[in-house]
Amino acid sequence: METRHTDFLPGHSDHLAVLFRAVECARNGIVITDPTRTDNPIIYANPAFSQLTGYASAQIIGRNCRFLQRDDREQVAVKEIREAIRKEIPITTILRNYKKNGTLFWNELTISPVRDEQGRVINFVGIQNDVTARIDAERRVQEFYSVISHELRTPLTSIHGALTAVEDGSAGRVNAQVTRLIRIAVDNSTRLMRLINDILDWKTLEAGKFKLNLATFDPEQAVAAVIGELLPMAEAKGVSLVAEIMPHHSVHADQDRIIQVLNNLIANSIKFSPPNSRVTIRLEAPAKDTTRFSVTDRGPGIANEHMDKLFVRFQQLDSSDTRKKGGSGLGLAICKAIVELHGGNIGVSSVVGEGSSFWFEIFG
Ligand SMILES: Cc1cc2nc3c(=O)[nH]c(=O)nc-3n(C[C@H](O)[C@H](O)[C@H](O)COP(=O)(O)O)c2cc1C
Repeated sequence: METRHTDFLPGHSDHLAVLFRAVECARNGIVITDPTRTDNPIIYANPAFSQLTGYASAQIIGRNCRFLQRDDREQVAVKEIREAIRKEIPITTILRNYKKNGTLFWNELTISPVRDEQGRVINFVGIQNDVTARIDAERRVQEFYSVISHELRTPLTSIHGALTAVEDGSAGRVNAQVTRLIRIAVDNSTRLMRLINDILDWKTLEAGKFKLNLATFDPEQAVAAVIGELLPMAEAKGVSLVAEIMPHHSVHADQDRIIQVLNNLIANSIKFSPPNSRVTIRLEAPAKDTTRFSVTDRGPGIANEHMDKLFVRFQQLDSSDTRKKGGSGLGLAICKAIVELHGGNIGVSSVVGEGSSFWFEIFG
């Protein structure tokens, strides 16, 4: 066993006393069990353990810790703990436990084997932490996202679909004034859907649960699809979209997500473009195995000191811009996360007064 060096306070010649006091004063529950005795009973529990569980030490010592589970035994964590103890390896997990008064609490429990000089396990030490407040908060956040998804996005999608059917005439002819009003409604429902989708995407990305659907495709198709989608928005602002398709090769990526990134960058450029200007979308292969997309506008440009804020969530450069131009403040952060999930790079170059060029590269 490795020799541990300690530096106890002067005057504390009795190291054991210092360790004992530290454990007694700890805010986490700490128990020690004896696996050499039948059913691995608790031989020590600190005051914080009594406080956490509501049991006095006389009601704890000599029992196996499972009494905290009461009848709630069918938990994955319990199985994992049983395995870890059998294999004599440490474990950290969260499980449902019950206080003396019957109240449920979520116990974040770490169990470690304690070995003697010969490496034999002579005890286990368990550290308990009540994480009920955190688990409840996480559950409320989860419920909130579920409401956004089901109670907000689902009906909005159907409203948007109905409005679009009126706008494109497939629901029958309407007069010019109605068409004008419907167009405003479609624009706003589109913005609202984009905002909701951004919020839900960000949550999935943050949780590391974003799955890429990889396939090989011609990136020119993605550029054409996005230009087709955003043409009405560009025309409404008098902005022309120009595609510069240079020699390139196919990419292995998630086509829908690449379209999402392009859509975001191009829509941003249109928003910040002055009337009668152009937005250039360039596709090229600067190196073998590298596909580069860039979107260049003649907008106001971005000052150097703001560049690194651009791809950070909720960082609109100027909050008045948000209201003027719309957007969740998540768009570029989502683009960056998606490009990086592909192992690619994203960036921007800009000259104040001349315009900005957002680009991203995908390899392979
Ligand atoms: C040091 C130590 C601390 C433990 N602390 C707890 C605890 O706080 N709550 C709990 O439900 N189980 C705790 N356990 C786990 C149970 O004692 C038991 O190992 C678990 O329920 C799985 O085994 P079983 O199927 O025999 O019950 C602890 C185990 C050890 C060794």
